Amino acid sequence: MSFEEPKPDRPTVIITDDRRASRHMIRNILKPEGYKLIEAENGKVALELCQKSAPDLLLLDIVMPVMDGLEACSRLNSKRNDYFIPVLMFTAYNDGSEVEKSFQAGASDFINKPIDPEELRHRVKRLLYLSNLEKQRRADEKKLQASYEKIQLLSRKVLRAYEEERVRLARELHDEVGMSLTTLKLNLQLYCSDIAANNREHKEKLGVIVKSIDELQRMIRDKAYFLRPPSLDELGLLDVVNNMIIELSKSTGIQGTLALSGSPEIIPVDVETALYRCIQEALTNAARHSGADNISVGINFSNEQITVNVTDDGIGFVSDNADSAGKHLGLQGMQERIDLLGGSLEIRSAPGEGTDIRIIVPLGAYYSRGGEEHANTAGR
Ligand SMILES: Nc1ncnc2c1ncn2[C@@H]1O[C@H](COP(=O)(O)OP(=O)(O)OP(=O)(O)O)[C@@H](O)[C@H]1O
Ligand SMILES: [Mg+2]
Repeated sequence: MSFEEPKPDRPTVIITDDRRASRHMIRNILKPEGYKLIEAENGKVALELCQKSAPDLLLLDIVMPVMDGLEACSRLNSKRNDYFIPVLMFTAYNDGSEVEKSFQAGASDFINKPIDPEELRHRVKRLLYLSNLEKQRRADEKKLQASYEKIQLLSRKVLRAYEEERVRLARELHDEVGMSLTTLKLNLQLYCSDIAANNREHKEKLGVIVKSIDELQRMIRDKAYFLRPPSLDELGLLDVVNNMIIELSKSTGIQGTLALSGSPEIIPVDVETALYRCIQEALTNAARHSGADNISVGINFSNEQITVNVTDDGIGFVSDNADSAGKHLGLQGMQERIDLLGGSLEIRSAPGEGTDIRIIVPLGAYYSRGGEEHANTAGR
């Protein structure tokens, strides 16, 4: 095996042994390698030096006064260090138990005494190489975690902006376009009433135009409701889901039921919106694709989590069909929303066996992230 040469900025190695002669001997063996060598006379001093200088490698003799090598090694490893310090233990010859104890204490490697200079140089080089790799891995992991957190934050912002935009559009459609149509209808009726009163044909035409305006108003109300039902803010999730199921039953003939269990108290707004969108998508999918006779929605509340089940007895489907990736956004959008809340989404479906979608959103984790600022009372 070949290892990279030690870092050009001179790796730091702490040599810990209570005997000055031994430290001196090790120093002489390692000196030609160009390391920065620091000496410690016991485990306690070695740990203090580790705190101060974050070395690249710690060499520990096992038997020492004040604090022995095993204890120093366990203490070093019991701390949650941001940096990684490999430990090379010096163990007594032919004593297997010391080797085992060394590894149990968290040592990375051991070397038997009396020390063979060539072996020591080789093991130190190898451990410094591994130490570099481990440091690089930790740094990469940190960067990856930071990027992941940034993406999550961004996704949350995008979803919030998306919801806000839907609210704005719904309001504009309802208030501005709806009001303009009402004014148009009233003006039309007012200005045309004289003409229509004396002419049957004009009266009929006016009736048709007014009917079209009524139809347009109804369509706009429906679109505004679909974008964001005002009742989600006013009534809360449960009533809105109940209304959705009633509407679905009316428009499709599918028998829909809602079952609640547990005691709903506070639902964070983000959780409420995400669950609403997921249930909406699951119900829409059931209506569009399943051919089911029955759909049931179950919502269970506990202090720790909210569990939602949407079940239909329709034709079912193969849920991990890779061909559909990218073409169908509904299930993917559900997964993304639930991921952002640290929850889980499970789809159980098979041809001919209906579909069961289970969503679990943990509330504790959400609150510990500070989501409680945006909390709604569920049972409004
Ligand atoms: N309840 C269901 N019963 C049967 N098939 C379903 C059900 N839900 C989803 N599917 C199948 O899974 C596919 C993917 O669903 P998804 O919601 O992701 O996309 P979509 O509904 O086709 O389109 P959209 O992007 O508009 O939601 C559907 O096309 C359908 O074949
Ligand atoms: Mg869909």
